[in-house]
Amino acid sequence: MGFHKHAYDFDTIVNDIVNHPKFYELKHELHHGISRYEHSLRVAKMTYSVTKKLNLDYERATRAALLHDFYFDSELKNYTTGETFKIHPKFAVINAREYFDIDEKQADMIRTHMFPICDRIPKYKESYLLGLCDKLVAAHEMYRYKASLVMGIWVIFLFNMMAIQK
Ligand SMILES: [Fe+2]
Ligand SMILES: [Fe+2]
Repeated sequence: MGFHKHAYDFDTIVNDIVNHPKFYELKHELHHGISRYEHSLRVAKMTYSVTKKLNLDYERATRAALLHDFYFDSELKNYTTGETFKIHPKFAVINAREYFDIDEKQADMIRTHMFPICDRIPKYKESYLLGLCDKLVAAHEMYRYKASLVMGIWVIFLFNMMAIQK
């Protein structure tokens, strides 16, 4: 180990998590119309660039961001949709602790990423930023999903119109 402070790239930071079989299972979990794996990767990438630019703890922040929605629908089947907003970060913390090595700061980031919909106030700048990145990515994903749905309805509508014209 050298004494230089290395600048790690995104892939190096997330490599072991994205290739872990348990994390890979998120590919089968639907989230905002895409897989939760894909969503988590987007949030992690945005968190990486933002925290790196701001000279924050970007390595640990990126890993926590990747794990922020590390939960499974099967774990939430006894909760209502409203309750899942509040409860899913707790499952993500439990799973992140079970399969990966996360510290208290990373646990805080994951636990409070739904702020202000949670029991506590984020303790770190990185926690607020993860919450912000998650909301921006989610808004983008839901808009795209809805936009394609609207487009699909229009195409069907036009097809029917043309069929009627004949
Ligand atoms: Fe979430
Ligand atoms: Fe999320």
